[in-house]
Amino acid sequence: MNHRSKPVVASLGSIACSLALSGQPSVLADPQLVPADQQPVPQASPQHAKSGLRHMAPARLVIGTALGPGDISDPVRAELIAREFGALTCGNDMKPESLQREKGVFTFETADRFVDFAQQNDMKVIGHTLVWHSQAPKWLFEDAEGRPLSRDEALENMRNHIQTVVRHFKGRIVGWDVVNEAISDSPNEYLRNTPALRAIGEDYIVKAFQFAREADPDVELYYNDYNIEADYKRPKAMRLIRELLDAGVKVSAIGVQGHWLLGHPSLEEIERGLRELSTFGLPIHITELDVDPLPRSGSGGADVTATERAGLDPYREGFPAEMQERLAERYAGIFRLLLGFPSVTRITFWGYDDGTTWLNYFPVRGRVNHPLIFDRQLQPKPAYHAIVETLKSAPR
Ligand code: GLA
Repeated sequence: MNHRSKPVVASLGSIACSLALSGQPSVLADPQLVPADQQPVPQASPQHAKSGLRHMAPARLVIGTALGPGDISDPVRAELIAREFGALTCGNDMKPESLQREKGVFTFETADRFVDFAQQNDMKVIGHTLVWHSQAPKWLFEDAEGRPLSRDEALENMRNHIQTVVRHFKGRIVGWDVVNEAISDSPNEYLRNTPALRAIGEDYIVKAFQFAREADPDVELYYNDYNIEADYKRPKAMRLIRELLDAGVKVSAIGVQGHWLLGHPSLEEIERGLRELSTFGLPIHITELDVDPLPRSGSGGADVTATERAGLDPYREGFPAEMQERLAERYAGIFRLLLGFPSVTRITFWGYDDGTTWLNYFPVRGRVNHPLIFDRQLQPKPAYHAIVETLKSAPR
């Protein structure tokens, strides 16, 4: 079940993520060329105000998407997003390397624009993410030679990053993915061997939550990871959440990423996972949902180091009707299952259209993928309609 395969350079994954969620070159002028503070903030037109997935879900359930700058600088995309989704997660623009690439220099302009967009369109904002081993500047936890900083110095860097960021967005963000992907995929290892772990020790996770809480007593604080619903990794997730609660940390929700494949994991395994994770009595958020229909050698998840050199690319010319149907059934099955869990209070897709998905770059670079609910022309796919039907028939 361990999907870690070849340990390739971690930054490949980051590049893929940045490419994928920072705008679709074929559809958009490059938003990066226009300074963020000079771009208008588009708003949805009023006639669409009440259609879209966000209004079809039961009241307890928020439906969201991740997005990048190209999504809100293009009026067509911006309107689609505001119509369909009630919550927004920045794909890249609130990660440590985006907010404090250089020590002490915070750059909030792009992220602020997302928050403005969300507020103007009545969407919640999820902060993603305060501590992660990827897309984070090295100086946070390591010296110039790559050696771990002293515990005190690393703690101070982490505290300052977390508290400056959390205070900046205070009152405008509902919750933060405080720590992302801290659990190891390796059978004999509990926590992932990250720069933060090497410099601070296992309690860096508790500390990160405490720092965030000090900075904002009201904001929600989440632990977020991939495959923690899966049988091989769930016991470690149960242990981690238990340890956080025992240490007095108030975890507001557990974030299950949901980077799933067409045939894996089974709905039974997801159900087993959510059932056990729900025993803490905490809300469960599905935070990064997509369904990869392309073949790969690993078994799902989002380990950004698990890139593959080559892979089949069978749907370059289009996604056949039969595959559309299979994807639609998979999404409908997932939604039926999730709707049966009162603990699931948010489902966020990792993007919304096939043109900009990170899965065009991961685990194999440059494939033509079809994992999301809108196609490259931003038209709803059968998967979208299947979700609509499932939402409409959900018990209220
Ligand atoms: C992980 C991270 C996200 C994003 C995706 C891939 O799941 O949590 O921020 O980078 O990988 O796009």
